Amino acid sequence: MPKIVLAGNWKMYKTQVESLEFLKAFIPLLADTPEQRCVILCVPFTNLQLLSQTLHGSIVQLGAQNVHWENNGAYTGEISAPMLTEIGVRYVIVGHSERRQYFGETDETVNLRLRSAQAAGLTPIFCVGETKQQRDKGEIETIISQQLQKGLIGIDQSNLIIAYEPIWAIGTGETCAASEANRVIGLIRNSLSNPHVPIQYGGSVKPENIDELMSQPHIDGVLVGGASLQPESFARIVNFNC
Ligand code: 13P
Repeated sequence: MPKIVLAGNWKMYKTQVESLEFLKAFIPLLADTPEQRCVILCVPFTNLQLLSQTLHGSIVQLGAQNVHWENNGAYTGEISAPMLTEIGVRYVIVGHSERRQYFGETDETVNLRLRSAQAAGLTPIFCVGETKQQRDKGEIETIISQQLQKGLIGIDQSNLIIAYEPIWAIGTGETCAASEANRVIGLIRNSLSNPHVPIQYGGSVKPENIDELMSQPHIDGVLVGGASLQPESFARIVNFNC
């Protein structure tokens, strides 16, 4: 597994034309990016085929934002792991808090999706994180350990990325302090059977805070929403100073 993973989550943004405009500006900005940095773009399903062709030969890897647990079947609106691998997708986000909050994902369905991703040879980016209310009540350790315990049943930890995304920091501009993100990620690492699983931080990552986040010993990368939509800001994140 790569040790440093910098992933953009485009969520429900960008048409195909907008994606190509992004890449035209973004790819040249990666000319001096160190090879050991794994750069991933997780884009809407409709852009995957096009980006698979366009990114071929570049250092940018392709990721999807969800995957179903069956290979095929009567599941209107869903996409399966073999459908993703067939077009060159290597990574997939699973269990994002927006999926849990708006689309009824549970720890159980997240686990099924993680399993199907791995079975097809995809590397899942497994998201965990607490709400503000849970943090204020001192429940953070319990919540995250429950998400991990249930999510990781039957999961191969040698083909896995974890993203710690505190929900209150997503899209709010309110970043978790780098030292606190590092503390929680350290706790997550201690609970894994494989300490080498890359663990990312996500939540209002920006050019202004990337260097401090990446200087923390436990933080192996970032999962970036809003700031991954602009070529210059995502390139600055990918090209963080260490
Ligand atoms: P923002 O970077 O926009 O806060 O989003 C984080 C996120 O949800 C990445 O998956």
